[in-house]
Amino acid sequence: MWSMVVSVPLLPAVVMVLGRYRVEVAALSHRALAWALRLLRGAPCVRSAHAFVFSNCTHGKVDSVLETFDLYADTHPSLCISPQIAEALDAAVKRVRPSRVLELGMHCGYASVRLLRLLPPAGRLITVEMDPLAGELGEEVILVAGFKPSQFQVLPCSSAEAIPTLHPFLESDDGTGDGLDLVLMDHDPQQYLPDLLALEREELLSASGCSLLLIYRNQRAEDHREILDHIRGRPGSYCIGSELQFMLEISYRKEKHDGI
Ligand SMILES: C[S@@+](CC[C@H](N)C(=O)[O-])C[C@H]1O[C@@H](n2cnc3c(N)ncnc32)[C@H](O)[C@@H]1O
Ligand SMILES: *[C@@H]1O[C@H](CO)[C@@H](O)[C@H](O)[C@H]1NC(C)=O
Repeated sequence: MWSMVVSVPLLPAVVMVLGRYRVEVAALSHRALAWALRLLRGAPCVRSAHAFVFSNCTHGKVDSVLETFDLYADTHPSLCISPQIAEALDAAVKRVRPSRVLELGMHCGYASVRLLRLLPPAGRLITVEMDPLAGELGEEVILVAGFKPSQFQVLPCSSAEAIPTLHPFLESDDGTGDGLDLVLMDHDPQQYLPDLLALEREELLSASGCSLLLIYRNQRAEDHREILDHIRGRPGSYCIGSELQFMLEISYRKEKHDGI
């Protein structure tokens, strides 16, 4: 009773604070909800996803590996891209027809397998995963899907560590360096801009054009804004391809007079 008497006069202040920090409060409740859901359903588990796919798919059959992943995600929490993102990713890869692809954030290898199946025979995927267990199990999934070690490279480290070491992986057999045609970022939105800057600095993006696909799972406007400011400030090099709710596609092309 007393607490009610005390709290009623505070109500306007609480409403004002809630209004002022609307975005923060919404983000906080979103996170609390995600946390509660995870408690109820269990955390996404790389070991369990791997075991399910490994023992239930037909080895050597790409489509079976992907279908088994989908089956797993129907009944378990999963960090793999959703069917909606997968469809958008496939469409982008078919349009760009890349041969050198970088994936940041491999997890169990689901998106890696999707990417690899669309590459030309001489194509190559470099995929980076900082969780060593996920890196190991993801690599096994790629092999189970039937891809050869010459078609991909798993780098078990953070994106920031991996990027400066990428040059040798991009060299052709004749020793000439080809840049990346496509980069998929699905690791940590806070890293998207620093990693993009590092890729530019290291001149790893193909001079003839590169598509960058940035995945946003939890909608956070501020994550978009930083990177959008950067690319809008460089109209000679970048243009925004498509801006889906969960995926931002950016096209890069090297320009001589960029005014940096
Ligand atoms: C959402 S999952 C990736 C899912 C994957 N693309 C798929 O759909 O199959 C994100 C992964 O990125 C990894 N990760 C997070 N930050 C990273 C970083 N800075 N460098 C490398 N990997 C990172 C996490 O360990 C996690 O496995
Ligand atoms: C394989 O799939 C069945 C049926 O969907 C499931 O019950 C089983 O746990 C899976 N195997 C593993 C090792 O996860």
